[in-house]
Amino acid sequence: MYKLAPSILSADFAFLANDIEKVEKAGVDYLHIDVMDGEFVPNITIGAQIVNAIRKHSKLVFDVHLMIVKPERHIKDFVNAGADIITVHSEAVDDLDGCIDLIKSFNIKASVSVKPKTPIEAVFPYLDKLDMVLIMTVEPGFGGQSFIEKMYEKIFKLRKEIDKRGLKTEIEIDGGANLENIKQIVSSGVNVVVAGSAIFGSDNIEQTVKQFRNNAIKG
Ligand code: DX5
Ligand code: ZN
Repeated sequence: MYKLAPSILSADFAFLANDIEKVEKAGVDYLHIDVMDGEFVPNITIGAQIVNAIRKHSKLVFDVHLMIVKPERHIKDFVNAGADIITVHSEAVDDLDGCIDLIKSFNIKASVSVKPKTPIEAVFPYLDKLDMVLIMTVEPGFGGQSFIEKMYEKIFKLRKEIDKRGLKTEIEIDGGANLENIKQIVSSGVNVVVAGSAIFGSDNIEQTVKQFRNNAIKG
């Protein structure tokens, strides 16, 4: 069974707690929180203060995706705000090894992400100590884009490497997941699926989450 991680980027920011409650009641696994700095990606979204505010309203695993340069400056703040998993971008850090160690020093899960143009081999040297690898299946920065099919090659390569080494590292994909492609995504070896617009953009969140589960297994 894969884990479903709704991205609050597509939620109503004026009613975040309400929207989070809806996905939590629908039985999702993680809450994916997109942090953008206006530099690594064009937009600015939310910071540790908002994460801290919503932490009081949710028991979900907080999966914090830092799309920011020099993320090591802010990791402690996001840990204190309630992050359970922190993902940094391989392209945004000088000392990736040190950054992973820093995240792990707080006893939370560490993850590294690669943008579509970054080869998956970039994470291989750190694989043994990573809890998760996030493969971007769209260019980071915006919700509602189409899944880049070529990313399946990366997923296969990473799945092979993880299995070869006998690791438990999870593979997460982010961007363009929907009810049509969920089965193919999960069959390719992905453990955690982020979905923003497909969940928060739907009229009936509970029903959509159910369909995400059903469509992934049906023949
Ligand atoms: C994009 C973000 C994603 C985004 C996914 O930079 O990292 O998490 O919210 O949105 P959808 O599922 O709509 O492609
Ligand atoms: Zn994300």
